[in-house]
Amino acid sequence: MTATHIPTIPADRLPALLAAMPKAELHIHIEGSLEPELIFALAQRNGVSLPYASVEALRAAYAFTDLQSFLDIYYAGASVLLKAQDFEDMAWAYFQRAAADNVVHAELFFDPQTHTARGVPFAVVIEGLTHAVARAKDELGISASLIMCFLRHLSEDEAFATLEEALPYLDRFIGVGLDSSERGHPPEKFARVFARCRELGLHLVAHAGEEGPPEYIWSALDVLHVERIDHGVRSLEDPKLVERLSHDGIALTVCPLSNIKLCVFKDMAQHNLAKLLAAGLKATVNSDDPAYFGGYMNQNFTETFAALPLGAPQAYALARNSFEASFATPAQKAGWIEQLDATFAKFAV
Ligand code: ADE
Ligand code: ZN
Repeated sequence: MTATHIPTIPADRLPALLAAMPKAELHIHIEGSLEPELIFALAQRNGVSLPYASVEALRAAYAFTDLQSFLDIYYAGASVLLKAQDFEDMAWAYFQRAAADNVVHAELFFDPQTHTARGVPFAVVIEGLTHAVARAKDELGISASLIMCFLRHLSEDEAFATLEEALPYLDRFIGVGLDSSERGHPPEKFARVFARCRELGLHLVAHAGEEGPPEYIWSALDVLHVERIDHGVRSLEDPKLVERLSHDGIALTVCPLSNIKLCVFKDMAQHNLAKLLAAGLKATVNSDDPAYFGGYMNQNFTETFAALPLGAPQAYALARNSFEASFATPAQKAGWIEQLDATFAKFAV
């Protein structure tokens, strides 16, 4: 099946199809899945005091004006994570929600520097996350892997120090990414550390073109040699870049609800997801930091399809792109695409 040859799906079945179709999530910061209830439970368990009186007061603070206003609260929320069990509990909660949304494969970002800077050893972070990944496979049938992100507001030397700490655990994660404050921190700042990660055989991705200009997407491609662009919504400002991305089949891990919450677009009707697909770009839908942005995978699909000119062909393309752009094996991808085709056949008239 291809996006242009999918069976006719009655419009009233589209919301159920969006929920039921198997999908991969390629852009989720696991620390961004920490719900306020779990933040408070972990704070109590670990004796950490929070500058918010209640879950409701914390949630009320989730009114962001840009990326930085979110990051300040997101890093504060992560301060309750101290023990391996905390990291496992956080990721396990995410996997249960992902399973409910028919996510069959997830590639999780984690930010070790957010934790090692507070004295939490790298080993503690990776142990907890690895346990949750194994449990997701055993108990939920979800295939999952980890991608270690460098914080771009810190120096490249600090990224190198983090890579050094991670070396004994190279078999626990499949790649590296670049996240945190984008503006003023172009990808080329991390050229040497990404080159080293490439030599180590790691997969490479980077946030680019979320708030930053198309030039950052060019340098993520040409200087860092990334295989996917995280966000990349500003690529449409540069026709030559669109040509390059579509020619090379570089996927964009788009996060619609995140983009609205962080004021990248005024509202969902203004989001450019439909235009990205129409331009021939390999877009995918992802949740980014679902606990902060109002929803997990299916919420992202439901809200974008309700607001934009998107139908069953685009739903198929987005799900299929998520598998094709993943770092899973060809056999895994083929199996999921077969499941996707079967789901579409079931919803056809
Ligand atoms: N870290 C967590 N979420 C992020 C985002 N949307 N952009 C950059 N860094 C992040
Ligand atoms: Zn992100």
